[in-house]
Amino acid sequence: MECFSKDSGSHDRDHTQRVYNLCMHIGEVEGADMEVLKIAAYLHDVGRPYQDESKGSICHAEKGAEMARTLLEEYPVSDARKANIIHSIKSHRFRGKCQPETLEAKILFDADKLDAIGAIGIARTFQFAGEVGAKLHNPSIDPKDTKPYTEEDTAYREFKLKLSKIKDRMLTAQGRRMATGRHAFMEMFFERFLHEYKGHK
Ligand SMILES: [Fe+2]
Ligand SMILES: [Fe+2]
Repeated sequence: MECFSKDSGSHDRDHTQRVYNLCMHIGEVEGADMEVLKIAAYLHDVGRPYQDESKGSICHAEKGAEMARTLLEEYPVSDARKANIIHSIKSHRFRGKCQPETLEAKILFDADKLDAIGAIGIARTFQFAGEVGAKLHNPSIDPKDTKPYTEEDTAYREFKLKLSKIKDRMLTAQGRRMATGRHAFMEMFFERFLHEYKGHK
């Protein structure tokens, strides 16, 4: 997803492994084609370096789908499954033009977004804030008036402007259930965080 472009290197691989784990869990519950999901999860961000190197002019989901088509040419899996894997990769992006249509594509989309929220989401936003030299918190300014990639790019900003909206974008029932739990945890964490910041707790 978009905020993942803030990551690089080993973060990409860790994210891919977590998305794979989420896909396996949601796929079991939803009764998905697990072979399609396994391959789609592992390959879903394979186009990421091209998007980063082109500073965003290449879409990593579209590029990744093309790369998967080539990679899967000799792979012993049916043409229908190959088409589903390619569609799932192409449609996984949060703001992508292509919408997920198959169950497996919807699960990959949900898994990718779930990795941005909950305890993992909080950890990732603080890690990113540290990488760009952002403050721990910026109480004197409304997050809406702040700029990304500056010292104003705090974890709380990311939560208010982006992460708090993700739960409403889920496409599967299990994804929605998990997003609801992860969202509630973030709400609880940041409520406490703001109290502690003021010294009220
Ligand atoms: Fe992605
Ligand atoms: Fe991803």
